[in-house]
Amino acid sequence: MDKVAIVGAGRVGETTAQFLAKQELCREVVLVDVREDVPQGVALDVFQTAPFFGFDTRVSGSNDPEAMSRAELVVITAGLPRKPGMSRSDVLQANVEILDGIVADVQRHAPDAILIIVSNPVDVLTYRAWRLTGWDRRRVLGQAGVLDSSRMASFIAMETGFSARDITTMVLGGHGDTMVPLLRFCTINGIPVTHFLSEDSLERIIERTRNGGAEILALRKISSAYDAPGASVAAMVDAISRDRRRLLPCVAILQGEYGERDIAMGVPCVLGDGGLDSVVELELTDAESAEFAASAASVRKDVARLT
Ligand SMILES: NC(=O)c1ccc[n+]([C@@H]2O[C@H](COP(=O)([O-])OP(=O)(O)OC[C@H]3O[C@@H](n4cnc5c(N)ncnc54)[C@H](O)[C@@H]3O)[C@@H](O)[C@H]2O)c1
Repeated sequence: MDKVAIVGAGRVGETTAQFLAKQELCREVVLVDVREDVPQGVALDVFQTAPFFGFDTRVSGSNDPEAMSRAELVVITAGLPRKPGMSRSDVLQANVEILDGIVADVQRHAPDAILIIVSNPVDVLTYRAWRLTGWDRRRVLGQAGVLDSSRMASFIAMETGFSARDITTMVLGGHGDTMVPLLRFCTINGIPVTHFLSEDSLERIIERTRNGGAEILALRKISSAYDAPGASVAAMVDAISRDRRRLLPCVAILQGEYGERDIAMGVPCVLGDGGLDSVVELELTDAESAEFAASAASVRKDVARLT
């Protein structure tokens, strides 16, 4: 991939740029932000790690949306993060206004790009971006499930003492509070996690994963999470730019899958060249289906609040 633009050079944008450059996932990363001088400063700081990591990806910053021209992929991390005590929905209206302006810029300057939405509430904003652009759903995705799954895997690693790299988890549904963890598909090197952990421990882990973002926010106090979010976006970009056809839980527009349509929800997706290749439809149990439907209802409630 030649060029990736990251709109929003805040904490998540900076970490994402760092991971993309370090893994040389594209030749050029450009950070765009409305704050004067900030994207330029962030870009310099990130590029000055090149001698340590040995990457040749060029990193630049700009306040001019035109800088995203020719980008094959645009990551949107612009917007207000939550403050302690706030829910993702509390930042809805402000972030919708920011998103609308950015989507218009993307359509003007990078009309062929693949979009990855990170700003919250990510399910609602991904849906909004898809509606505004009118693009094929292959090109409009959101990041949530990769992060929720990695949080759950980390907690399982902490509880069992096993290497995190051997742990596979699958989380569907809305981001965070309304996520739907599929324990049946959570394994440690192929062995169901239920072999190692009691029902009680798993319940605790699920609850902690649901509140994973809030826990970090409460501890960090002055910022919400950004290290694992940046790594999660990089995993999606890696799958797309290297055409890996990875199966990752992402926010995608549903067109009848899981009994839902005209909504963006976290589902297992195959990512490769061109973005979303397909949505994998799993047979859910009655309990999982009910949780998924509740999660969809909560996303729809937020979509309905939009002006
Ligand atoms: N989906 C996820 O898993 C996930 C995880 C973490 C954070 N987030 C979300 O990502 C967003 C960013 O979080 P953060 O911690 O980086 O916040 P931050 O405050 O550090 O950065 C946000 C940046 O957006 C910029 N911005 C605002 N309006 C803009 C515009 N119109 N054009 C360009 N830039 C603009 C700001 O100047 C700021 O630099 C938040 O909405 C947060 O909730 C999502």
